[in-house]
Amino acid sequence: MDKLVIRGGNPLLGTVRISGAKNAALPCMAAALLTDEPVILENIPQVRDIETTRKLLAAMGAEVELGYGRAQHRTTICARTLAAPEASYELVKTMRASTLVLGPLVARCGRARVSLPGGCAIGARPIDLHIKGLERLGAKITQEHGYVEAVTDRLRGAEIVFDRITVTGTEDLLMAATLADGETIMQNCAREPEVADLAALLNAMGANIEGAGTSTIRVKGVTKLHGARHRIIPDRVEAGTFIVAAALTGGDLNVAGCDPAHLTAILQKLVETGVKTVVKTDSVRVMGDQPLQAADMDTEEYPGFPTDMQAQYMALTTQAAGTSIITENIFENRFMHAQELVRMGANIKIEGRRAIVCGGTPLSAAAVLASDLRASASLVLAALVADGETIIDRVYHLDRGYENIEEKLKAVGAEIRRVGNIFPKRAPTPTQS
Ligand code: EPU
Repeated sequence: MDKLVIRGGNPLLGTVRISGAKNAALPCMAAALLTDEPVILENIPQVRDIETTRKLLAAMGAEVELGYGRAQHRTTICARTLAAPEASYELVKTMRASTLVLGPLVARCGRARVSLPGGCAIGARPIDLHIKGLERLGAKITQEHGYVEAVTDRLRGAEIVFDRITVTGTEDLLMAATLADGETIMQNCAREPEVADLAALLNAMGANIEGAGTSTIRVKGVTKLHGARHRIIPDRVEAGTFIVAAALTGGDLNVAGCDPAHLTAILQKLVETGVKTVVKTDSVRVMGDQPLQAADMDTEEYPGFPTDMQAQYMALTTQAAGTSIITENIFENRFMHAQELVRMGANIKIEGRRAIVCGGTPLSAAAVLASDLRASASLVLAALVADGETIIDRVYHLDRGYENIEEKLKAVGAEIRRVGNIFPKRAPTPTQS
């Protein structure tokens, strides 16, 4: 299993280019199931979750071409026929976003069989709200042998009020509602930019959706969707991760090809910690030449501070003068990185959903274990400022969501390399995020 070896101490200098958003690309790929015509998606990130989705769609009978580099990070998906509208446990267990195919499959094929994802490294993460919403749209749902089965003649429009805000739940039902008979009104929807990006694709495919990106979305169902071409938005979490990396290492980094409008909460929080930024239309320059100050942070649904940046922000606060209280409001178990940061010299106490970080303690290199995607990113950030050589195990988590992270970091001055097995073998835990 690959590991990353990072020698800390170098400020990040220069320009880094941000890839397409994994969490926008995944639902957009699932949306291609809604039509028998080709859907072309550009700016697809070269990460493991995309490859898993390719396998998932191909297993159902879709033709999926996926090319990087000269092929411009593009995928063409044609779900002309879907012989097996199923998502197997083998695929869902490695990527819970596989449940995004549930809505499109039942809407297009009138039936779907999708493995229940189970818990993961950051919380229990049920999909009850996806199921409840599909029932409101008229699907008959049964659960047996670890699978959810949904059947319907045709979905029909309905009013759906989400009990709590769910990103993939909103996306799943949005896709389902496009082919339902009549109007669907969804309330208390997720307002994440990834939802709006999906709606832009669906509208380009002939759907009739209004209000995506706000908490009320209206969908007038149509009988058929057609092919379309769509460019995926930049990854706001990757951008945020590099912004924090620059601030933490005292660097001067231009984070290019991002959408600063999606980064408002992150940038505001960094200003509170004393980081200087220059924001342009599609880039953020970060100047980390001032000492960092503690600042409390609560994760919230968009447009609040994203839970997907909590671990990286915690790495930053370990180096900020004073005490920062970090409250995780979205997932009940998303502090696994804290103990690894403590092993590197951080002073962090966990009290339920709060982490109390007494900043300013020097970090020293250690062998650490990545537990999920964003936890891995936080360990990379800590390693960039630690004294000595940190070895991060289970890097496969990182590969699920960050494109070429070590090449990108190396190009802006980090000392980082990937190596094969240098630890004794340990059993991998199947985790998802
Ligand atoms: N929830 C329920 N029932 C449901 C669905 C969600 O109780 O049916 C709960 C969850 O357990 C959680 C909260 O609602 O406590 C919010 O979960 P949400 O459904 O919004 O999360 P998700 O859609 O499964 C997406 C991202 C995550 C990101 C969260 C929150 C994708 C593919 N995944 O997950 O991304 O953390 O929204 O913003 O879009 C990551 O990229 O590292 C990642 C974990």
